[in-house]
Amino acid sequence: MDTIFVKGSSRNSRILVGETMDKLPEYMPGNHVFIITDKNVYDIYETSFPRFPVYTLKPGEATKTPDSAIDICRWLMDNGGGRDAFILGIGGGMVCDMAGFVASVFMRGVAFGFVATSLLAQVDASLGGKNGVNLDGYKNIIGTFNQPQFVLCDTTMLHSLPADELKNGLAEAVKHTLIADKQMFQHILNHAGEILALDEALINKLVRHSIEVKSAIVGRDETEAGERRKLNLGHTWGHAVEKTDGIAHGQAVSIGLSFAAKLSEKKQMLSAGDRITINELLHSLNLPTETDTDPRQIFRALVRDKKKEGDHIHFVLMNGIGQVTVEPLSLSELDDFIQTI
Ligand SMILES: NC(=O)c1ccc[n+]([C@@H]2O[C@H](COP(=O)([O-])OP(=O)(O)OC[C@H]3O[C@@H](n4cnc5c(N)ncnc54)[C@H](O)[C@@H]3O)[C@@H](O)[C@H]2O)c1
Ligand SMILES: [Zn+2]
Repeated sequence: MDTIFVKGSSRNSRILVGETMDKLPEYMPGNHVFIITDKNVYDIYETSFPRFPVYTLKPGEATKTPDSAIDICRWLMDNGGGRDAFILGIGGGMVCDMAGFVASVFMRGVAFGFVATSLLAQVDASLGGKNGVNLDGYKNIIGTFNQPQFVLCDTTMLHSLPADELKNGLAEAVKHTLIADKQMFQHILNHAGEILALDEALINKLVRHSIEVKSAIVGRDETEAGERRKLNLGHTWGHAVEKTDGIAHGQAVSIGLSFAAKLSEKKQMLSAGDRITINELLHSLNLPTETDTDPRQIFRALVRDKKKEGDHIHFVLMNGIGQVTVEPLSLSELDDFIQTI
């Protein structure tokens, strides 16, 4: 088991990689604990939950709303929750966001922790202190910055995760290597098959690596603006693909990473060889690098999404594997590039 300590402005947090759920009592209070989970996770793992009241959400992004948050607050009140309540979220990113948000606003804020059960939650969503809910279908409109006391990443729980959900997390983990660590990128390339088979040592190393990269970036810039933008690698194009194609976030991000590599090559920042290797790695993890959708249609979705930012967008480009730079890119330059692909 590895512990990674993370400094946040609200409080310090510790991330426990490879720890098992039965060790939870070592990390949280012995009473006034309230568990938030979703139905899928509850059905598989309920017998391993600590014995406290449980609120079970309907699985899926559509549940991550202010209405659900209010329902949970009401449930907390009905069950005697007060200022000394401790909220434990057990689930994927949806549950972590809900639990973190509720804990931040209930009684003006109570302590909380997560058991991150999806790979995406372990490598991304449970980290960084952002907690948000969606409003009228728009993502994360209402939220807070607030760190959990701990995040427990029990990687043995990933064995029950559907294959597509695993891919979502893998795309973000690859993103972290592209941002910061060529060696780890190579390591994934050498062991893709074992990672897909959830080899425990390799998956723990992968999760720990992502946590270190994301925490270091967030530690330098907790509330966005500069450094944190690097984490958007693959996401500007990826979000637009997610909208046009209606595919899962991780698969769209993978296509976005490949697009960012292509654009970086065009701008003579990345070699053709590195671009090809990046695509190879994504394919070896069964992640897509292309879509059949006309790039001009994706570009239109991107422009709609980014219209508040003006004629320029912040685009994360690669200057090699493991190194990125955030550059203002004019929409007309992006449009010109798209005509060439
Ligand atoms: N706060 C942040 O910084 C941040 C960053 C990235 C993503 N997010 C948020 O995270 C959410 C996406 O996270 P996600 O991909 O984990 O989605 P999710 O929580 O909806 O989980 C995906 C699916 O996997 C199931 N599941 C989770 N763990 C399981 C397990 N061990 N076994 C079997 N099934 C399991 C869930 O029930 C769900 O059906 C989005 O709401 C997104 O906005 C937040
Ligand atoms: Zn993402």
